[in-house]
Amino acid sequence: MKKLLITALLGLSTAVSYAEGKTLMIFYSFSGNIEKIAETVKAETGADLVKVEPLQEGLNYAANNYSLGSDLIDRIRRNPNDSKSYPPIEPIKIDFSSYDFVIIGTPLWWSQMAAPMQTFLYNNANELEGKKLGLIVSSASSGISGVERDAHRLIPKGDLLPRSLWIRSSQTSSAPRLVSNWLKEVGYTEKK
Ligand SMILES: Cc1cc2nc3c(=O)[nH]c(=O)nc-3n(C[C@H](O)[C@H](O)[C@H](O)COP(=O)(O)O)c2cc1C
Repeated sequence: MKKLLITALLGLSTAVSYAEGKTLMIFYSFSGNIEKIAETVKAETGADLVKVEPLQEGLNYAANNYSLGSDLIDRIRRNPNDSKSYPPIEPIKIDFSSYDFVIIGTPLWWSQMAAPMQTFLYNNANELEGKKLGLIVSSASSGISGVERDAHRLIPKGDLLPRSLWIRSSQTSSAPRLVSNWLKEVGYTEKK
């Protein structure tokens, strides 16, 4: 049986040992920054990586001043409780019971979570219920509070770490240091 050991750290936050569990990083990446960060997470934690892929291939979300990405985000904003607001993605089968810690990696689009990742979380909220979750966001410069709000809205019963990791696009090459520091701060203990 999987064991989750929670111990007090500095009396302020909690250190979590995933000694018998496994880590999953589920991510979406349009232009490759989050994908590079996911590789870093894999190197640090041995996490399994799963990439979300839009069902419709070859779309350029950044064309015409990001207009397609903007349209997708607007649809979700207008009707967040309607499954039809979320762009379809390739089906993904994951045995969530194998994982104690799930890291969500996403770009920021118009201050929100990128639409394909929103689709994945909308479709899998029940599976992620009660799971320890971490959030890693890449943006050019915008702050990530809107993305954190999306994560809470989409997985209301997820156990999201209070501290997410924000990596600006220009910092992508520093991901190994930033990811390693974040994992230490949130009390991640390497799998023994
Ligand atoms: C449709 C779209 C909208 C974006 N909106 C923003 C934004 O509002 N603020 C920002 O700082 N970056 C924005 N970006 C930039 C991405 O967040 C940034 O380039 C990120 O590193 C992309 O990650 P990726 O390479 O994994 O796709 C946007 C990018 C796209 C494609």
